[in-house]
Amino acid sequence: MKYVKDAWYPVVWADRIGRELSRHVVLEQPLVLFRREDGRIVALQDACPHRLAPLSLGKLKGDTVECGYHGMTFDCAGKCVRIPGQEIIPANATVAAYPLEVKYGLVWVWMGDAAAADAAKIFQLDQYGAEGWHAVQGQTLRIECNYLSLCDNLLDPAHVTFVHTTTLGTPAGATVPVNNEYGDDAITVWRWIRGAQAIPLFAKYGKLSGAVDRWHYYNYTTPCFFAIDMGSCVSGTIPDAADRHEGIQMHACHLLTPVDERTVLQHWFHVRNFRIDEHDIDAELTADLDKAFQEDKVILERIQREEERNADYKRIVLGIDAAPRKMRRMVDRLIERESAGADR
Ligand code: FES
Repeated sequence: MKYVKDAWYPVVWADRIGRELSRHVVLEQPLVLFRREDGRIVALQDACPHRLAPLSLGKLKGDTVECGYHGMTFDCAGKCVRIPGQEIIPANATVAAYPLEVKYGLVWVWMGDAAAADAAKIFQLDQYGAEGWHAVQGQTLRIECNYLSLCDNLLDPAHVTFVHTTTLGTPAGATVPVNNEYGDDAITVWRWIRGAQAIPLFAKYGKLSGAVDRWHYYNYTTPCFFAIDMGSCVSGTIPDAADRHEGIQMHACHLLTPVDERTVLQHWFHVRNFRIDEHDIDAELTADLDKAFQEDKVILERIQREEERNADYKRIVLGIDAAPRKMRRMVDRLIERESAGADR
């Protein structure tokens, strides 16, 4: 499968990386990650150039990695610095070293042309770390489906009413149409539901009981990054959508890592503007969000299996599919552009 390579992808939560070698797969490429003695994290290609033995099966010695098969040893730049029993080191005795950054508690790697790696291109959420907002590290879900199916799901407010009945949705939203806005590398799908009961999650944590106005804004950035802005206010108190920060608001960020054609990692965290000093609710709120995202996992994995069983199946296109279809065209265009650049 072809992927967008010129992008930063999150690999793993940084606090999971220590002084041992760990293997990760991004865009079908195996990576070995470890923490240097000075605390920085390194990502190398997890394949020894001699026989393709995974370096993650070897040993971390100081800031070098020793292959577990014949002992070739590589530094943090991927350069071979030792071959047991041999003085001369061939010039091609190297492994790729990936540009790496840590942001939002996640390790990000750049999978394309290293010269184009610019940390400013990492997915941006302005509220993270800003005054008046509280960020809570979430989890990573491994879903056995193509990453674009999960992207479809994360551009689709209409499913919330049916899939997340005890967490993120209520029946009131079923017939409310969605609005789409398109940029060059971004899509927003949104809708307001006015004068309705609060969604279960906000009724529980936001302590909302009467009629509310509530919103969902699904903000997508290519190739597979999402900030879902959801919130509520007492009905009639926020007539202008631009003022929705005056209500209770949460940005649930979903940062996807395609592993291979039928596996994706969904790294997620949330940032909220209510009960920001009550950190004792974080774990339970995270568990409730996880419950909702597990509901998506169940249906997406079943869809994946059914699509594989029905190779000739063609999707029926509904009105709610406009944004997901546009997203897929954006990703295809990026892949085509990269391929054309590589051919020049
Ligand atoms: Fe790594 Fe031989 S496979 S040194």
